[in-house]
Order: sequence, then structure tokens, then C-alpha cells
Amino acid sequence: MWRAQREKNGYPIFILSNNFNTDVALTYHDATKHSYASIRANPHSLDWANQPFPFKIYPSLTPLNLTSKLCQTRMAALSAIGEIVATQTEAQPDLKTVAQLLYLSAGVTRRRQYPGGEIYFRAAACTGALYEVELYVVCGDIKGLDAGVYQFSAADFSLRRLHSGDYRGALVEATAGEPAIAHAPLIIVSTCTYWRNAWKYQARTYRHFGWDNGTVLANLLAVATSFELPGKIIAGFKDADVNCLLDIDPMREVAFSLAALGHVSTLPPLSPSSSPLGLETVPISRYEVDYPVMREVHTASSLESSEEVETWRGHTPQSNLPPPAGVTIPIQPLADAEVPRDSIEQVILRRGSSRRFSRLPVSLAQLSTILERTTHGVSADFLDPPGAQLNQLYLIVHAVEGLDAGAYVFHRDLRVLECLKKGDFRIQAGYLGLEQELPADAAVDIFFLADLRLILERFGNRGYRAVQLEAGIVGGRVYLAAYAQRLGATGLTFYDDDVIQFFSPHAQGKSAVFLVAVGKSAKHLI
Ligand SMILES: Cc1cc2nc3c(=O)[nH]c(=O)nc-3n(C[C@H](O)[C@H](O)[C@H](O)COP(=O)(O)O)c2cc1C
Repeated sequence: MWRAQREKNGYPIFILSNNFNTDVALTYHDATKHSYASIRANPHSLDWANQPFPFKIYPSLTPLNLTSKLCQTRMAALSAIGEIVATQTEAQPDLKTVAQLLYLSAGVTRRRQYPGGEIYFRAAACTGALYEVELYVVCGDIKGLDAGVYQFSAADFSLRRLHSGDYRGALVEATAGEPAIAHAPLIIVSTCTYWRNAWKYQARTYRHFGWDNGTVLANLLAVATSFELPGKIIAGFKDADVNCLLDIDPMREVAFSLAALGHVSTLPPLSPSSSPLGLETVPISRYEVDYPVMREVHTASSLESSEEVETWRGHTPQSNLPPPAGVTIPIQPLADAEVPRDSIEQVILRRGSSRRFSRLPVSLAQLSTILERTTHGVSADFLDPPGAQLNQLYLIVHAVEGLDAGAYVFHRDLRVLECLKKGDFRIQAGYLGLEQELPADAAVDIFFLADLRLILERFGNRGYRAVQLEAGIVGGRVYLAAYAQRLGATGLTFYDDDVIQFFSPHAQGKSAVFLVAVGKSAKHLI
């Protein structure tokens, strides 16, 4: 499909792109909606004997062990998630910092025995604890680590080198010269492996790529901030180039995002050429089931040329909320001097999704602090000007001191919550969150809703990746902001259209993208 994307020197640029056949993303979205009926029509049973192994292992590569000794940055978690380091700051990580960034984003932080084996819980929340997100390091020479392309192996906390030499130039080329990538001493590429998550979630997994990559990136950006490293998320790149550099099989595993970390004034050299490595990896399951709709939406959202990438980024469509028409309540966040001082590393290590909420109230200050510290904007190539956002936050408040129970929408720019309707909606919230107890027992459920048509109109199918990713990052921050205040949180899935119905007429035309519940854990009360 030919499509004019922006103008250059007064002339429209026409680009041949699959990306703008946005029926593909809309069809995928509709086909993967959960509803009361769809859940009952598809009673998917899990083949436990075929559960995917949660780690990618290259048996022929020698591990370069990383130090697990954490450096105490002492930066309060609420500062680390709430601040953005200026991009022009000259800042380079060393190997210890790289290890800490990886550990606190995707490392194994807890283990739990269960009758069938052991679960290795990671630093960031992940749907079903299936951990389909892999991290790869692409760097120039940094203190303690030679320039190269490495796979992060969470299983034994090590790096395995895929290429030696400085390959950052290949990513500069793949991102059409994206300035943050061009000046980054360190780039962390996230990939997602379909089957690891689709074993349980089938075709809905493609949404989870954004959610689960997002929670990892929320941690990564916060830890980077604690080291005063600027960080920027890049979702626009030539897919084939990045997949090729990592030597991954795009039928099974695909590059999803790049994180540019740190800043150096010099540009990287041209990359050496990379040829296929043909390295063996340990199979993750005895057999895998393919869900072609996911590869279809991935292919239809892939970018192929530098021109396409260049015109893809920036110029975020404005999706302003209508001015408040109902009662508004100003948020009342804690001041800097009042926020809990637990460091980002302490908070990440104690985070774990709440398995039961107590129904006890949280305070308006706690909720306000969460809202304020998580929604200041994400530094990303699809969010421009800085601070732009794709998702809007809608809340069901059950138990927040100083706030009537009811449905609200958050006006970020006005710093107010607008009441849409008052009432006790615990039963409805439990239903909307796929008939689970967690959203009914939480103090507040925070839904992320977006105008998909507007986003796809500007960004094409790839906007679908961006909107899920932004929600995952902000949702990941909500987890951290809750745990920093000794509250609990959990991501949740939902009945798509019923959520929109619940918040309508205000939410009419929007789509449900993400849900996170916050409250007081019942664990300590039992
Ligand atoms: C986006 C998202 C959606 C989730 N949905 C649910 C859910 O519907 N029900 C549930 O019990 N847990 C849900 N979880 C929690 C995961 O099961 C949990 O993150 C995973 O088991 C890893 O455990 P941890 O978060 O304690 O490290 C969700 C997590 C995320 C990030």
C-alpha cells in the first residue's frame, strides 16, 4: 500500500508499506478479545509435559559470568521511576552497571518449588511467569566488556558472545540514524519468543509481548536513571536487520524494542558485516503450536526501509480527553521530602505480584503518588513531544481514603480525577478482570484505554506494538510505585468490550489495552 507519510522540503514522501494496511492490527485485536462467551467457547487446556523451558540456552558458547553483587545506588525508587535523565549527559556504564541493569530487569530474583518443579521468578512481572522476553547487549568497548553482541542468559547470570566487534553501527543503520542509538555506548535489544507465552495464552500472546516487554523496560529505565544513564526506548527499526544481527529465527523469536542507554559524543564506526551463525540452542518444548495471526500482525507491522523508519517515529497523535464534565478531585501526591526512601534495587527485589488483596483502603496520597510518578511520559521514539502519551488511565476505586468509591478518569494535565459514576463496583470489577478475585479485592483497578484508530492512523500497524509497549512500561512503573509505598499490585487480563462498556459513554470508541490492580496484600494478615 502506497502512503504519503509527512512532507520533506514541502513535498510529500510516498512510501510503499504494508504497515498502513491497518485492518491487520484491528482484525488481530478483535480476534483476540476476551469475553464471557469467548472464554467459555475456548476451554484451552495446558499440556504440562510440554511446558516451555523459560530460558534460551546456547550450549556451545562459553558463558562470561556476571557479578551478582549489587551496587547500592540509594536512589529512591519513586525518584528513579519519576525522573528522566537529560539525553545530552555524557554517561557510560561499566560491566558492573551492565550486570545490574540486566539483573534488575530480567534476572532471576526468587525461586519457588511446586509439585511439578521449580519456578524461577524474575525481576519484572510477566504474564503466567512464562518469560518470553530475552535481552541482548550490543555495545562498544566498555570498561570490563569488549565490544560485541551478547545474549543475556538469565539462567546462569552470564553473557554469551554472539559477535565480537562494535556492531552498534548496524543498529544506527536499522533505526535510520536515531540520535539516541547513534550516541549510546550500550543498547539492549528485547526479543520475544512466541511459543514460550502462547503455550498458555495462544494468539493473545502478541499483546503480551508489549505488556511483558514493557514491565522489563520499566525496571531497566528506572535502574538506568539510578546510575544517571539517559535511556530511550526505540520501537521503530528495520525488523529484518535487527533479527539478522541477533541471528534469531523470526518464525519463533522477534526483536520487539531497543533501549539506548548512556550517551557518548562520538558516533560508532561502521559495523563489520555479520554472517549467519547457525548456533544450536536448546529446544524449549518437545513440540510447538503455531498461531499464524501473530506472525501476520508482526509482519504487517514490520518496517523495511530507512525512509519508512525515519517517517515512522515522532509526531504522536494527540488524544486529549474532553474537558471534565463531572466532579473533579485534585490528586494529592507526596512531596519529594515525604516519599518513602527505599531504593530502586530494594523495591525491585521485594516486588512480586499480589496473589490476594485484603480490601483494606489505601490513601489518596498513595494513589496520587502512583499516578504522578508513573505518568510523566516515557522517553520513546513514538512519544513526541516528550511527555506525549498513547494510553489514558481509567480507574475503578473501591477503597481509597478521601475518594468516593466509583469510576474515574485521570486528567493527567489537569492533575485531577474526574468522577464518572459513584458506587461500589467490586462485583463488576471482578467480572471485568476475567472473573478473578484480585480486581474485586483491590483498593483500585487502573485500566489503560486507548484510541486505537487514531494511533494506527498515524503509526500504522506498528502503532499496535507501541500502544501495548507504553502500557506495559507505565504499568510496570505502577508496580514499582506501589511496592515503593509498601502496597501490592498485580497485572491482570480483562474482558475487552465489557471494560469499554463499563466506562462509557466517556470511553466510547476506545479500546482496552492493559489493567493493573493496586491494594494492600492479604498475605501479612493471614
Ligand atoms: C500484564 C500482566 C497481566 C497479568 N495477568 C494476571 C492475571 O490475569 N491473573 C493473575 O493472577 N496474575 C496475572 N499477572 C501476574 C503474573 O502471573 C505474575 O507477574 C507472574 O506470575 C510472575 O510473578 P511475579 O510478578 O510475582 O514476579 C499478570 C502480570 C502481568 C505483567
